[in-house]
Amino acid sequence: MNTNRLSEKMAKALNDQMTKEAHAAQIYLSYATWADDQGYDGIANFLYRHANEERNHMMKFLEYIQERGARAHITAIPAPDSDPTNVNDCFEKVFKQEVANTEAIYKVVELSFEQKDWATWNFMQWFVKEQAEEETLAMNLLDKIKIAGGANAKDSVLYSLDRDLGNTPDDAKLAQDATTDNP
Ligand code: FEO
Repeated sequence: MNTNRLSEKMAKALNDQMTKEAHAAQIYLSYATWADDQGYDGIANFLYRHANEERNHMMKFLEYIQERGARAHITAIPAPDSDPTNVNDCFEKVFKQEVANTEAIYKVVELSFEQKDWATWNFMQWFVKEQAEEETLAMNLLDKIKIAGGANAKDSVLYSLDRDLGNTPDDAKLAQDATTDNP
């Protein structure tokens, strides 16, 4: 008896997204080691933590695929991009990475809608929200570096930025979550 509740196309889309999340973890790890090597311990710490988040996203996909009766296929992960050239470039790369991932997530949502696979549609909504958070977080990073002088930021300003980022929370607050009790 076939207990697989995912269509072949959907199983492939979810598997591809699972690998993309693993790729994102590799990218963040790579940027983190770059930052660490440059002496930006706070930025590195932030990026290491973010790499773990991406790995958790990968596991979320893996578990969902298996729970729906399909098979999660563990494949090779593409190599991360080249190193950032400076902190400004690093944050720009982080932002682009998140936007690209949001677009990939939206494609899976679109497919679930087309296929009337409401279980997957519902599962994907967590990622839609998560991506909005991650984009906001990346935008905040870019704003900070812009204020600090962008690609020409002085060492003294980068020093404070690095210290602050070591303590930056992993999640950004979203306006949509605000309530009168919890503004
Ligand atoms: Fe898993 Fe940064 O999205």
